[in-house]
Amino acid sequence: MLCLGALICLIGAPAHQTRSLASFDPQVNALLEKMTLDEKVGQMTQPDQSFLASDADIVRYYLGSVLSGGDSDPKAGNSLEAWTNLIDRYQKRALETRLAIPLLYGVDAVHGHNNVLGAVIFPHDIGLGCARNPALVERIERITALEVRATGINWAFAPCVAVPRDIRWGRTYEGFAEEPDGVKELGAAAVRGLQGGNLADPLSVLACAKHYAGDGGTAYGSSTLGPHLLDQGDTRLDEKTLRAIHLQGYITAIRAGVGSIMPSYSSWNGVKCSASKRLLTGILKDELGFQGFVISDYGAIDELPGDYKHKIAASINAGMDMVMVPARYQEFIASLKQSAEDGTVPMERINDAVRRILRVKFAMGLMGKNHSQLANRALWKQFGSPAHRAVARDAVRQSLVLLKNSHGTLPLAKSLKRIHVGGKSADNIGNQCGGWTITWQGASGNATPGGTTILEGIRQAVSKDTQVTFAVDGKGAEGADAGVVVIGETPYAETNGDRRDLHLAAEDVAAVENMKAAGIPVVVVLISGRPMIVDGVIEKADAFLAAWLPGTEGEGVTDVLFGDYKPTGKLSFSWPRTMAQVGVHRGDANYHPLFPYGYGLTY
Ligand code: BGC
Ligand code: BGC
Repeated sequence: MLCLGALICLIGAPAHQTRSLASFDPQVNALLEKMTLDEKVGQMTQPDQSFLASDADIVRYYLGSVLSGGDSDPKAGNSLEAWTNLIDRYQKRALETRLAIPLLYGVDAVHGHNNVLGAVIFPHDIGLGCARNPALVERIERITALEVRATGINWAFAPCVAVPRDIRWGRTYEGFAEEPDGVKELGAAAVRGLQGGNLADPLSVLACAKHYAGDGGTAYGSSTLGPHLLDQGDTRLDEKTLRAIHLQGYITAIRAGVGSIMPSYSSWNGVKCSASKRLLTGILKDELGFQGFVISDYGAIDELPGDYKHKIAASINAGMDMVMVPARYQEFIASLKQSAEDGTVPMERINDAVRRILRVKFAMGLMGKNHSQLANRALWKQFGSPAHRAVARDAVRQSLVLLKNSHGTLPLAKSLKRIHVGGKSADNIGNQCGGWTITWQGASGNATPGGTTILEGIRQAVSKDTQVTFAVDGKGAEGADAGVVVIGETPYAETNGDRRDLHLAAEDVAAVENMKAAGIPVVVVLISGRPMIVDGVIEKADAFLAAWLPGTEGEGVTDVLFGDYKPTGKLSFSWPRTMAQVGVHRGDANYHPLFPYGYGLTY
């Protein structure tokens, strides 16, 4: 790679892939020459399966791709088998088309194959940012790819390489860090893990770096979504700053060979990224040399100005290659075809878009005569397996950040006579997992089978003579040797997670106070998608552990509570003392947070 100054790098063949995507152009161009306009437009169209009028539409419209959004389970139900059957059925349909071009099937596998019941759920990226271990991230994504492939799916809308600058944003937890360094390093590791050394490896999936560019930099209050605050808002930065903070993750993802990139719903200085020729064509393709394809966000082009035909043309002409429509695919296809015919969208642009999509399909080996398009069901036995859960447990313990540990409260002895556990998230897999888990927004409670809550982890870790008692409100701790209170946020995802106020809920404060009233040492474990305002509570706690959204393997938390793993995690976000300090970062004049970026104790 040739770097001109710190920010502008010319990227040639990616470091982790044997062949560049453009090297497939001889085969791609030969196929492209045979294609009709209908076939080309079909490749550029991605409906959500829940809106597909019939399977036959895959054939009728020559569809190139289908997705499942966050709430889009197979109609036959949410099971490994139903997912696999669905994808196989669709691929068989794609093979009935004249040119038999297989589908790319996309899904948000953002912390494991998180839409599917029983998949192992890894910590959300914020926790992995605190672990800051690229080899671990690569291992996690190899496992995620394998679980995704077990269902026949071949594309993950991950990693998110956002650099969240304001923790009131509801997608903060999808980002590794508030500074670009961690994002650069871990985003590339995630691409390597998902795509493997070679996209054609049957255990690899296509990765998608998102959301390009500046999704984490929107101005507070600039959201176009009515009552929401930051999500899908406007990033008001000069180009130099945008590059220095928000483009870094794309540069390393491209070097790692990422095959797809998703533009952000948000705007850059008032221009929607989905229609920014400067971002999509000028910077991404021409300057950074991205050879893969650009996939719109879910219905993102509907948010552009003008009628539907104008929206589509504006986005495609700006450089969008495939559109996640996700519902109005017939209308999209008719309109794009018309624009191609009347010259609103030049044929050259259509050909470029389809060429990019086909490059990826060739690189993935999908076009090979002997390549089976059907799922390898032998992989089912590894789905959610103990071996995968062991890696997730290791990820959890590496992601925890110990923020306070007075007079050696941690580690707790496993031989204590009695431990009292409290808090609404002590026995709650759904809260541990957060959003993008089984459903789009996630849900409290028994969200998915196969994991371990923190309470269960404590019961398993202690000696057989130790009594573990539990009360959600933390009452009844009198006489215990120690208390553990697990509190924090309940699940949310994009949009719904934007918050004006990040103080702890009253019931959480009360649970800590009730526990403390018994006069015993109290450990507080915070489950949250971001730092919260913990002033007042942290003073009452003897030890305080930030656990982020650890996922299904609660034993990773107990490993740190009981000394099986000495804490190593360091904050990848600044931790404000007050709401007024939100948005303050290292290097700012008034940088006096409660805990600075990089903070983290051990014992
Ligand atoms: C999100 C993306 C996601 C897509 C598909 C959008 O609303 O912004 O991150 O990949 O939906 O579910
Ligand atoms: C879908 C998500 C999508 C969102 C966008 C939801 O209904 O399940 O995947 O990101 O809509 O608004």
